[in-house]
Amino acid sequence: MAAQASAEDAKLDGWVPSLDHATFVDWNRVYEPSEDTFLLLDALFADRAALRASRAIVEIGPGSGVVATYLAKLTRNSVLAVDINEAACALTMRTAEANGARVDVMRGDLCGALRSYSVDALVFNPPYVPTDDEEVGGAGIEASWAGGRNGRRVLDRLLPHVARVLAPAGRFYVVCVAENDPASIVSYLRARGLTGETVLRRRARNEALSVLRFVRAAPS
Ligand SMILES: C[S@@+](CC[C@H](N)C(=O)[O-])C[C@H]1O[C@@H](n2cnc3c(N)ncnc32)[C@H](O)[C@@H]1O
Repeated sequence: MAAQASAEDAKLDGWVPSLDHATFVDWNRVYEPSEDTFLLLDALFADRAALRASRAIVEIGPGSGVVATYLAKLTRNSVLAVDINEAACALTMRTAEANGARVDVMRGDLCGALRSYSVDALVFNPPYVPTDDEEVGGAGIEASWAGGRNGRRVLDRLLPHVARVLAPAGRFYVVCVAENDPASIVSYLRARGLTGETVLRRRARNEALSVLRFVRAAPS
């Protein structure tokens, strides 16, 4: 049984869901997976044991759907994916179908629709690129990258809700770059009862990427 499980894991290590169904029309409307996406997949693979205990798994901003699809395959569970971009929602559905993954897709803004203490694993690769604030707030492909001041405008709207939606043993994974000031994300959520750490970092071209993981702090 253990040997079988590790053969399955070996298949998922470094695997990226197929996007053969996507066309150039999709890539004009939806974020094409890049180094940040792959770093997130690697961080999730490393945490597969804990993630497999998760029942309610939510990805905010699935874009092409590769992360939500990967999570569904990794955990053998269903995943709820919520994106503001309609074309991203449609592509996420197609990616899940093409790869035989159970992903429910909802068009929406961040996690406003989620019940308190309901999410075991929350994942977000946000639009993190520092831009003018005027570029933030759209629902097209610019919502993939436009992060406004310090690249934090969208993430900063999610952060106040994270401690509310996470279940008692819930986890939150978020991608960021150095310009987002990861230390201040950690201290913001620490003040709300979550402990955070960098689980993976990588330099890709001009980006110093990292994945932060948060869990509820143990009561002292
Ligand atoms: C950097 S892309 C990440 C896409 C994919 N998860 C990946 O890693 O390749 C950010 C995604 O977040 C979505 N997004 C941006 N603002 C959002 C919001 N307020 N609510 C939900 N999704 C949002 C974008 O449409 C985009 O699909």
